[in-house]
Amino acid sequence: MRIALFDSGTGGLTVLSHARRVLPSEEFLFFADRDHVPYGTKSVQTVRGYVRAAFRFLVEKQRADAVVVACNTATSVAVEEMRQIYDVPIIGMEPAVKKALAQDGERRVLVTATPITIHGEKLRRLISAHDPNGLIDLLALPRLVEFAERREFVSPRVEEYLWNALAPYDLLKYSAIVLGCTHFNYFKDTLRSLLPKTVGFVDGNEGTVEELARRTGLTTVSAEERTAPCRFFESGRAVTSVEALARIDSYLARAARMEKIV
Ligand code: DGL
Repeated sequence: MRIALFDSGTGGLTVLSHARRVLPSEEFLFFADRDHVPYGTKSVQTVRGYVRAAFRFLVEKQRADAVVVACNTATSVAVEEMRQIYDVPIIGMEPAVKKALAQDGERRVLVTATPITIHGEKLRRLISAHDPNGLIDLLALPRLVEFAERREFVSPRVEEYLWNALAPYDLLKYSAIVLGCTHFNYFKDTLRSLLPKTVGFVDGNEGTVEELARRTGLTTVSAEERTAPCRFFESGRAVTSVEALARIDSYLARAARMEKIV
């Protein structure tokens, strides 16, 4: 089966990294909208236009059998419209609020995402359906997307940005931080050094791949070293240069390392 993963940029590679290892016999396409990243600080209408173009490319041109929107921001504003237009299974991502609250229904949960996701109607509805005790706090971290895109993962600037952003919260009252943007997974090592040990990470990557398997009737295997083949595209252009493929590999290697941090 030909499975497309789509993100504004490199964040979705953290989902691809997992998907390729648990579905090693499938064929993957990865589309990073490199010309337009970041999405999370743009207008909803603008992002909808980008998502429409990406789907036209992936479903109409590349004949993807299923699409994973490995981007919480694009899911928030455009996944419903895409499901009305296309018949293929479309798997979206949203901040893993339910999972975090199911793990601990007493302590607070800090949900981090891009500004579009944080202020979106979809997240508001999700929270009102699953957080009757008002345990959720919301925090937009748009600069992490910029840092990730320029591969600045560990630096005094990243640390200072996160330190200041987290400073208003009494983190000992929290059970979890939800990584509600796929780009944020790249910062688990820095976040781990700033958060108390009692705060765990919750992200939607594994759940999304499980949902992909369920919707397509595929069976996952336990993560293997062997990975499924993948072709990469940047805003519709095939990635072929050795430098560009090496850049992608460096993200995938970091994604695999970050997946091990709990
Ligand atoms: N990686 C995307 C997400 O999961 C969005 C990053 C951006 O382009 O702002 O929300």
